[in-house]
Amino acid sequence: MTFLELAKKRYAVRNFQVKKVEEEKLLKILEAGRIAPTGANTQPQRIIVIREEEGLEKLMKGARIYGAPLALLVCTDHTVSWKRPLDGKDIAEIDASIVTDHMMLQATELGLGTCWICYFDPKIIRAEFKIPDDFEPVNILAIGYAANEALSPDRHNTLRKSIEHTVKYETF
Ligand SMILES: Cc1cc2nc3c(=O)[nH]c(=O)nc-3n(C[C@H](O)[C@H](O)[C@H](O)COP(=O)(O)O)c2cc1C
Repeated sequence: MTFLELAKKRYAVRNFQVKKVEEEKLLKILEAGRIAPTGANTQPQRIIVIREEEGLEKLMKGARIYGAPLALLVCTDHTVSWKRPLDGKDIAEIDASIVTDHMMLQATELGLGTCWICYFDPKIIRAEFKIPDDFEPVNILAIGYAANEALSPDRHNTLRKSIEHTVKYETF
């Protein structure tokens, strides 16, 4: 499978089977996150693996995870992330998202479905998972086996804007 084939295969899964994700697959997903690039290689990510019933229940107090048997809560450390000297922009969330994307695509390659989730209550998630103040929960990646038939890799022909619309050459 080429990279583009893999990327086109991925879609947001919002209905998961109860089947658990195998340990070896989880470890590969975490390894893909570990090797992701981060600004100045600061690696501000902290990933909480949630797969026990108790943890999933806690997660569901603050987020909708569509019955996923596994979720990765990707947090970022604002004390170590790179800040752009010219304007102080903190890239901590960008780093966390690159890590999340690596893990999402690795999961796809392993035949798993994923849903990237930002619609969660940060107060509840912080409290339930005891996230220290310097850290920010950025993304939840719900992972499992899709319960429904896969969406077509050709759907992007209509569901995505054209390159002409989104790309400009040389100047805005
Ligand atoms: C940064 C980000 C945040 C998202 N947050 C949510 C979310 O909170 N809940 C949800 O159901 N889907 C969420 N999604 C999934 C998107 O809605 C979905 O990726 C998008 O509609 C494109 O569809 P596709 O992934 O099937 O190609 C999120 C995706 C991204 C990249």
